[in-house]
Amino acid sequence: MCGIVGITGNKPVADILINGLKRLEYRGYDSSGIAVSNGGLNIFKAKGKISELENVTRGENLEGLTGIAHTRWATHGPPNVINAHPHCDGNCDVVIVHNGIIENFTALKTRLAASGHEFISDTDSEVLAHLISEYYEGCLEDTVRKILHLVEGTYGLAVMHADEPEKIVAARLGSPLVVGLGEECNYLASDVAAILGETKRVLYLKDGDVAVLTPDGVDVTSIDNVPLSREINEINWDLDQIQKGGYPHFMLKEIFEQPKTIRDSFRGRILPELGDMKLDGLEMSDTELREIKRIVILACGTSWHAALLGEYLIEEHAGIPVEVEYASEFRYRSPVIEPGTVCFVISQSGETLDTLEAMREARRRGAKVLGLTNVVGSTIARESDAGIYIHAGPEIGVASTKAFTSQVTILLLLTVLLARRRNMSLVRGQRIIKELELIPEKINKILEQSDKILEIAKVYKDVANFLYLGRGYNFPIALEGALKLKEISYIHAEGYPAAEMKHGPIALIDPDMPVLVISTSDGSYQKIKGNVQEVKAREGKIISIVSEGEKEISEMSDHVIEIPESLNMLTPLLAVIPLQLLSYHIALLRGENVDQPRNLAKSVTVE
Ligand code: AGP
Repeated sequence: MCGIVGITGNKPVADILINGLKRLEYRGYDSSGIAVSNGGLNIFKAKGKISELENVTRGENLEGLTGIAHTRWATHGPPNVINAHPHCDGNCDVVIVHNGIIENFTALKTRLAASGHEFISDTDSEVLAHLISEYYEGCLEDTVRKILHLVEGTYGLAVMHADEPEKIVAARLGSPLVVGLGEECNYLASDVAAILGETKRVLYLKDGDVAVLTPDGVDVTSIDNVPLSREINEINWDLDQIQKGGYPHFMLKEIFEQPKTIRDSFRGRILPELGDMKLDGLEMSDTELREIKRIVILACGTSWHAALLGEYLIEEHAGIPVEVEYASEFRYRSPVIEPGTVCFVISQSGETLDTLEAMREARRRGAKVLGLTNVVGSTIARESDAGIYIHAGPEIGVASTKAFTSQVTILLLLTVLLARRRNMSLVRGQRIIKELELIPEKINKILEQSDKILEIAKVYKDVANFLYLGRGYNFPIALEGALKLKEISYIHAEGYPAAEMKHGPIALIDPDMPVLVISTSDGSYQKIKGNVQEVKAREGKIISIVSEGEKEISEMSDHVIEIPESLNMLTPLLAVIPLQLLSYHIALLRGENVDQPRNLAKSVTVE
């Protein structure tokens, strides 16, 4: 999604702004732009990659100590130079960058056009620059506060005015903004990654905040000009953690990091001798944990797949009814929340708008809301009643990999925590922890098969469709495998519960149709063997993920990937790894941009 960077201080800002934009590239964008204050407001914009913006600005005068920059992910109007941000008013006295959507922009535009304003872009955002110019009376923050009362929609907004050249005014409603504090230099960004190289002291703006940044300081008020104080946080991520570390792509780096990130997720939270878990972040006593009557889990995309796995785990082991909902559906229907319902909200970014709004809806209906997020200080993390950080570290590849396995790890810990307060025995709890501790090493063994998976990818790189089948715990993994493939390779792929195949998808099976079957040795093994035979009988191609030493399905398969044995409930953490690698290799062989697939954004902050 769109990204914002801003700086005002005592050093030339152009390079820092452009580097900041580069660190936001992973969020997905299709054009970019920069505005620097030097005698007036100089604006440069380009369609496509940030390297295009660098080409456009080469040799131009971008000297200046205050500036704002933007990466745009098109919503209103195609990706082109005119629609790229920054936008300005007719005289270029006001310049803005904006994330979010101004819902009443048509009405505002009509009114402004009637009083002589001329618009040049298709965007909703441009109206903000004209509104500010219309109402400006010498103080930018007063004007911004005034016009925000006229605006309906969502915004992460940064504004400059030619008459106040050292000032950036920022405002937030529904679209994240973070302020970085430096020495005689202050920073603004939609994502802390953009300014991490400059400062680690940040404050997160809340919805309704207006911030004024100058080289001397930062003031935050409400849009009604009530002074506010916001806590200063120290970021503990390094710049190294958001760089590729020798891998050709972030996605591959993140796939290979999983032995470590899974360990980071359970480190300090497992109690091996007690066969129990310690999840202090939940801030719930044993009695409160025992009193949970029903769980609702809200999420989108990959996080939703982790949630589905959470349902299977918690219902089987803790016996608590669980309902998994797409956040976007939950927020607009009339969900019933009874007393004793706890709502878990899963989001890697902690900024997904549908998930955030669903969380707010759940709270309005009386649920306690608990966040499972990766990004520290994200909106969901801050607005939830309590929660657990998954500790996967920054995930840059748009296709989620390590965040998924960390989400699943946390759901496993949660399952044991809840189950041990019900019927799970000490011995069972101890056994699960022992097996969980072995998972990172087992993943290493699967990662060693990357070259073998590359060979399989070469066979199937040109197919048009793919089917992924799994049963039980492996069904959410089939869904996740299919999503990974379609996201980055653009091959149409569907995940299905294996037994559902005969209710429709079996019609698609022919010698050109690859079917990936996850058939590890659990309770459903015998059944899935039957499903494999059904594919074989129709000459479909079979790629199977089987437990080490498995014979029968392997013999029926065209390609076999073996994964180590584990407890059934832990197998998904292993089974998903070859699917991530298969998608990565296929996408790369097709020449696609695996880290920034077309049309996708890392953090989906619009509906
Ligand atoms: C994952 O590969 C996707 N890019 C996407 O489905 C993602 O999981 C979804 O948008 C939810 O994001 P979140 O976890 O940050 O809320």
